[in-house]
Amino acid sequence: MNGIGIILWWISLLFYSLSFVVCTRSDPGYKNNNHKNVSELLDNLLRGYDNSIRPDFGGPPTIVEIDIMVRSMGPISEVDMTYSMDCYFRQTWVDKRLEYHSTKGDTLALSISMLEKIWKPDTYFYNGKQSYLHTITTPNKFVRLKMDGRVLYSSRLTVKASCPMNLEDFPMDTQRCPLKLGSFGYTISDVLYRWNANRTVDIALDMKMSQFDLISTPSGNGTEKMKLGEYSTLDINFYLQRHMGNFLIQVYGPCTLLVILSWVSFWLNREATADRVSLGVTTVLTMTFLGLEARTDLPKVSYPTALDFFVFLSFAFIFATIIQFAIVHFHTKYGSGEVYFNEDSSSEEDDDDSGSEDPNRIRSVGNLDIRRDPSVRSLQMSIIEVPPPPRLNNGGMGGSSSSGEGRTSSSMRNPPTPPPPPNWASFCRKQGRKHFLEMESVNSVSKVDQFARVFFPVSFLAINVFYWYSYLYKNSPHL
Ligand SMILES: *[C@@H]1O[C@H](CO)[C@@H](O)[C@H](O)[C@H]1NC(C)=O
Ligand SMILES: *[C@@H]1O[C@H](CO)[C@@H](O)[C@H](O)[C@H]1NC(C)=O
Repeated sequence: MNGIGIILWWISLLFYSLSFVVCTRSDPGYKNNNHKNVSELLDNLLRGYDNSIRPDFGGPPTIVEIDIMVRSMGPISEVDMTYSMDCYFRQTWVDKRLEYHSTKGDTLALSISMLEKIWKPDTYFYNGKQSYLHTITTPNKFVRLKMDGRVLYSSRLTVKASCPMNLEDFPMDTQRCPLKLGSFGYTISDVLYRWNANRTVDIALDMKMSQFDLISTPSGNGTEKMKLGEYSTLDINFYLQRHMGNFLIQVYGPCTLLVILSWVSFWLNREATADRVSLGVTTVLTMTFLGLEARTDLPKVSYPTALDFFVFLSFAFIFATIIQFAIVHFHTKYGSGEVYFNEDSSSEEDDDDSGSEDPNRIRSVGNLDIRRDPSVRSLQMSIIEVPPPPRLNNGGMGGSSSSGEGRTSSSMRNPPTPPPPPNWASFCRKQGRKHFLEMESVNSVSKVDQFARVFFPVSFLAINVFYWYSYLYKNSPHL
């Protein structure tokens, strides 16, 4: 029993040792523990490392190199005078304490937990308003370590910064939106900022802004004097040129069309008071609406913008057409706003050429076609004969005063309808003729209208040429 047990024990021992040898042979990497090797390396690096002290403490200032890769820009808000951008913000510096030697690769990509353990510059944005680090799915940052101790620290930020805008040339303006950054605590004796010489500011190739074109991004460096010392700073300016298309569609086009619409009034009859006034008032109201609408996206700046000038110009033109009509209307003597009848044309016919004209010809009077039949003619006559002949009345009254009472009473009782004096008909005809001639001469096309038909379009065109030339020339890219 004992011997068998010993033999079994030996066999199992042999078996186990054999299997162990086979296993290690089949997996040669099992013992070659790379992870352990790097962890060891990092442990060694951080042994005695104080992350509250900057590199080269007591020596020359640490130089922090910065570069920015802009992923997207916007929104750019005129109301708040801010702009936002999404960027990769990269900082590199050399920390001699983190030098190491390794056979595999010269860069170590490390987790962000390493960041907590090493020194980092305390960079901040001078004109930043509400910037944040993206944290989905993990904080968007990484750190890489090179053999010579250079640390590359990159993070993805959305920077919202103030951008003081001058909107005098809006919407043909180019805005300069600055970004200024520097150390919060270290003065120039400790930390200096420099742009990365190879790539200062990169713009993503597929970046598109709805309202602006990014035309240039000049960058510079400088120092900022504060109470507790001088700080190294970097600055970059984003020159943004506004797209005009939206405003052409929304404001300039409709305004121009409204002004042209208001000129229709000059080609309408001077008697068409209702039409011309309603056209004028409608265009003024629409223009008011457009003018208010144009300013909704803008802050309530105290100065007029270029857009305001145009809206005001259009408004003034439309307003002027109403004033122009008021002048025309003031000089219109007859039939203003009313349907009027033509003069009794039979008298005219009798005088000159009765034989040549067809008595059943259709006459067009204003909007009415009046067939010349006796009833219409009598109506026309009655309109013309509205003022009673003054001579007839005077004669009757004079007669009553001079002669006896009986005669007066009899004339009062049955009012006499004396036949008009032989020359009355011709007098009436002459009066009518005179009216007709006056109507013809006064209600001809107004001189003011004729003048306005040329003056308004030409002056509008001239002012437009001046307006567009001055603003577009001023804002042509000459940066
Ligand atoms: C890492 O392991 C290799 C062998 O696999 C060894 O030659 C090297 O010295 C090790 N490095 C460190 C820093 O321990
Ligand atoms: C700006 O940077 C250059 C090197 O890129 C440097 O020589 C110069 O001193 C810097 N200017 C300031 C004011 O820091």
